[in-house]
Amino acid sequence: MQVDDIRPEGWACTYLISNDGKAVLIDPVWDYIEHYRTVMNHRNLELIACMATHTHADHITACFTLSKDSQIPFYMWKDTASLGVTDHVDESSVVELAGIEYTFYHVPGHTQDSMIIAIEGHIFTGDFLFNGTAGVGRDDLPSGRLMEHWDSIQSLAHLSDGVLVCSGHEPPGTELQSLGWNRKNNPILGMKTFEEFSIWQKQTAEQLGSVSKIKTALPANLFAEIPEEIPWFEP
Ligand SMILES: [Fe+2]
Repeated sequence: MQVDDIRPEGWACTYLISNDGKAVLIDPVWDYIEHYRTVMNHRNLELIACMATHTHADHITACFTLSKDSQIPFYMWKDTASLGVTDHVDESSVVELAGIEYTFYHVPGHTQDSMIIAIEGHIFTGDFLFNGTAGVGRDDLPSGRLMEHWDSIQSLAHLSDGVLVCSGHEPPGTELQSLGWNRKNNPILGMKTFEEFSIWQKQTAEQLGSVSKIKTALPANLFAEIPEEIPWFEP
């Protein structure tokens, strides 16, 4: 089994999990579909499924397009509002793809439908948890809830120190770290009270400001439709 972040640019991570000539994409971005196809062609990989950790607000997911074009399943958490999902999962789901077992944990907060996708040695955390001082994703976007995010963080205790945290956003070139490392170095995991968390989130949201692509990306992801005009592709 091989796990690679195959984003061609930017801060949104897309993971390719491959085994025995078959591949699964987690959080692919619509803008880079051709890039993913090139990577998979070069490596002789057949895409057999795609998954989204949550309904993204900052980019259009490639999942519903890939799912439709290649007739493959698109997995998301069971009560996501996103259309285009073919297979809904919950904590009792065990999905086997190319000999790899996928399990899922609901971690609402950043969005109501946020989930961790787990395979052996790795957790794909989306915007629920980042590495190190980046902390966690913001909770001030649609369906975000601070208290739920805090409760989800407390629910991590059952996951072992050794798993690698493959998050949804990291600066290019960031070395991914284990959950054990994050328990020592991610400020959110060291917090003792909801109040501390709440202050950190408020300050972070103020620093980040508005999400530039949200007005196009969020409806596209909810309705599983590529808009006729995508402002960031205009000349
Ligand atoms: Fe997000």
